[in-house]
Order: sequence, then C-alpha cells, then structure tokens
Amino acid sequence: MANTDSLQERDRQHHVHGQTNMRLHQQQGPSAMVNEGHGVYIKTVDGRELIDGFSGLGCTSLGYHNERLANAAKAQMDLLPFAPTFYGRSHPKVAELAARLVKMAAVPMDHIMFQCSGSEPNDAMIKFLWYRNIARGEPQRRKLISRWKGYYGNTVAAVSLSGQPHMHARFGLPMDDFLKLSTPNYYHFHQDGETELEFSARMAAEFDDLVQATGPESIAAFFAEPMQSGGGAILPPEGYWPAMQAVIQKYGIHFHVDEVVCGFGRTGYWWGAEAFGLQPDSTSCAKALTAAFFPMSALMFKEDFYQDMMQNSDEVGVLGHGFTYSGHPVGAAIALEALNIYQEMDLIGHVREVSEPFLDGCRTLMDHPLVGDARGIGLFCGIELVKDKKTREQFAPELKIGQRVQDAAHAHGLYLRSIPPDRISFMPPLIIEKSEIDEALKILRIALDSVWQEL
Ligand SMILES: Cc1ncc(COP(=O)(O)O)c(C=O)c1O
Repeated sequence: MANTDSLQERDRQHHVHGQTNMRLHQQQGPSAMVNEGHGVYIKTVDGRELIDGFSGLGCTSLGYHNERLANAAKAQMDLLPFAPTFYGRSHPKVAELAARLVKMAAVPMDHIMFQCSGSEPNDAMIKFLWYRNIARGEPQRRKLISRWKGYYGNTVAAVSLSGQPHMHARFGLPMDDFLKLSTPNYYHFHQDGETELEFSARMAAEFDDLVQATGPESIAAFFAEPMQSGGGAILPPEGYWPAMQAVIQKYGIHFHVDEVVCGFGRTGYWWGAEAFGLQPDSTSCAKALTAAFFPMSALMFKEDFYQDMMQNSDEVGVLGHGFTYSGHPVGAAIALEALNIYQEMDLIGHVREVSEPFLDGCRTLMDHPLVGDARGIGLFCGIELVKDKKTREQFAPELKIGQRVQDAAHAHGLYLRSIPPDRISFMPPLIIEKSEIDEALKILRIALDSVWQEL
C-alpha cells in the first residue's frame, strides 16, 4: 500500500504541473493522484474509483487497460526500442504507419511527418508554411488566422495560434502575425432572434473582413479544430463550416485542420473533417493515434505542398526540423495496433451506437436549473452552466460554478473537466458502454443538484 500522504507531499513540494494554479498546488497538493486504470475507470492511490468522463485529456480512446497495445509495446521494445528518423534513416513500423495514415486521411494526403506531442505538428506546420512560402517567392505570406477559444498547443508558435488568453498572459504572447476570429459559440454569442444560419453567416463575414483588412497576399493559413475542444467542446452551429469554407475558397487560403482531439472516432467519424464536411489542405493528429499509450503525433500534407518545400533542399540542404523521438518505433508499433483494434472492434459503429444515449442524456440535463445548453456530436459534448436560462446570463466568475460542479462530480465518482467560465466538457473513452454512460450521467446530475442546493 502506497504511503499516500508522503506521495502527495512530495508532489506538492517538487512537482510543477502544467495548466494548474501554482499557488493552489503549493498550498493544497495534487487534486487527485491516480495510479491505476481499467476500462473507463481510474483509481486513485487512496482507493477511490472514478469514471473518466474526460478520457484523460481527450486521449484514452481505448480506456486504461489493453493487453494488445501493451504486448505491441513490449514486442517492439524487445526488438528495437529506438531508431532515429533523421538523415533519411527509417525502420519498418514507421514506414508502415506512414503509408497507412496518409491513405486513411479524411481528404487524401501524400506525406506525413511524425512528432511527439499534439503541439508539435501544429508548430511544425507554421514553420513549414513559412518555409514553403519563401521557396515560392512569397516571403510576405506569414500571417496565421485561428479562433478565440481554440487550442493548438503550448510551444511558442502553437500557443500564439491558441485562443486561450491565460496561455498568453505574462508570457508576452501571442507573437506578431497571429490573428484571431470569434469562437463559434452560438449559444452565448448569438444576437436576439439570430438563427444559427445567420450567426454562421456573421462569423464568415468577420473572417472575410479580416482577410480583406489584412491583405489576402499576407495570409499563410487558417488553422481550426473541426469542433473546438479546449474551448469546452463547442459544436459548430448550422451552416458554420460551409460559410467559413466559402471564404477559404474565395481567397485560396491554406486550411490546416487540427484533428488532435477529433481524430480517430471522437465525433462518430474517423475524422472531425468528415463529420463536418471539411476540405483540409493539411492536418495534424495525436492523442488517440496511439490511444494515449505513447506520445506520438503526425502532420500530413499534400504533394503540391511537399514539392514546394522540397525546392529549399537545393539551396539549404537538409530540412532543418525534427525531434529525436519523431517516428519512435514503439509509438509506431502501438499506433499500428491501435488502428487494427479500431477497425476490428468497429470503433465508429460503436461510437455512433452509444452516442445516442450519451447525447440524449446530456440534453436531458437541460431540464436542470443550472444547465443552459448541452450540445455535441459522437462522444463529445459541451454543457453550459448559466445563472439565468432566459437571458443566458453567466454566474460571477468568483463563484466558480463550473469548478464546483467538476469537484462535486469527482466526489461522487466522475472525473470531468470544467472550462472557465462555466462550461463542462464531457468526452468519455470511446469504448464506454451504455450502462457506464447512464452511471456517469446519474453522477453528473447529482453533482449539479448539490451545487444548485448550495446556491
Ligand atoms: C485540439 C488540440 N490541438 C493540440 C493540442 C496540443 O496537444 P499536446 O498537449 O499533446 O501538445 C491539444 C491538447 O489538448 C488539443 O486539444
């Protein structure tokens, strides 16, 4: 039996956590210390079991135990635990995975570069866009457009794309050349009487205006998640993507689609791009690529982009980019096995089947006095907590309603994520069964009730 006090104390004293209030962590120590998992359940060191309603960080698609993935990792570690992919060196698993993924992409892709985290393919794509544009004689094409509430990662460039003010504050970020559009949260930001279609047309007009004001010849790309995840599972409203893509086409803007969360079944489609009819020019994926059993990500793009980039080879020599662990053989072996499992279990069929009770159950929560809105797709739902359901007025931030619902859910056995101000992101592992969904929804209602009673 672990000495939990001392573990928590050691963590409190020495471990710096990302996306965590440093002061609170120093005062209180870890909010949970998890050391076991099975199926959709996680277990803390003090023996509490919780349903994971957030899939770790939107990544544990196959839950917390999978013998096939563990065996694939062990077999690869025994055979070849590491091999570089620099200097043109390769190994069988990464070559096999490369060919398989480009064929699977929502829109056929031709080339792929592996990375480790989800931030890195987005960051690399920014560099590659600049690299390609210089090769094409368009060095002025450097501006990147993305949306508030978007989450593209934490590296200096990827975080500049991200539309999360707390990730810019005190870092002196974002860098220049990073422009933002409104988040398409229809529920909160529609005007009185405005339909979803009208709202979407307004969002697209904002995009068009920004491109015109900036100068289309200076735009390198528009980056977007098919459905914003870090913003709190924000389902794009009706007509949003057709209207946005009309602007993309009008100006010939490079469209990079971030599938880090949406990819591999989250929406009930292989890719978020498929779910919403997107036509990406390039795409990034990570997380469920290895079912979170290994940190691995990928950036995919098309032949014309590759050919443009290659022009630099004659003048510069090597492509000056890459990470030691890019295309790691253990990650590649796990990813190949995860893809086999997804196909054999008919992951997409399963997500579609259980998404009905999941989404129905989430929508039923709208009868609760705290819940203003609940909408999603697949196993991906955003739940908005409001003070006044008629006016959509939000609670004062200091009341921390979202955080309190999250904490109450934890206390009753459901791990969830609240996203400030008061949005709950609900995205369980893709293997979840209907009975587990029912249990999770029951706990969420208990949590909502307990916070409502406190108010
Ligand atoms: C949509 C999206 N893109 C990129 C990232 C960055 O991934 P990572 O944290 O692995 O760098 C995340 C992380 O949650 C994400 O949600």
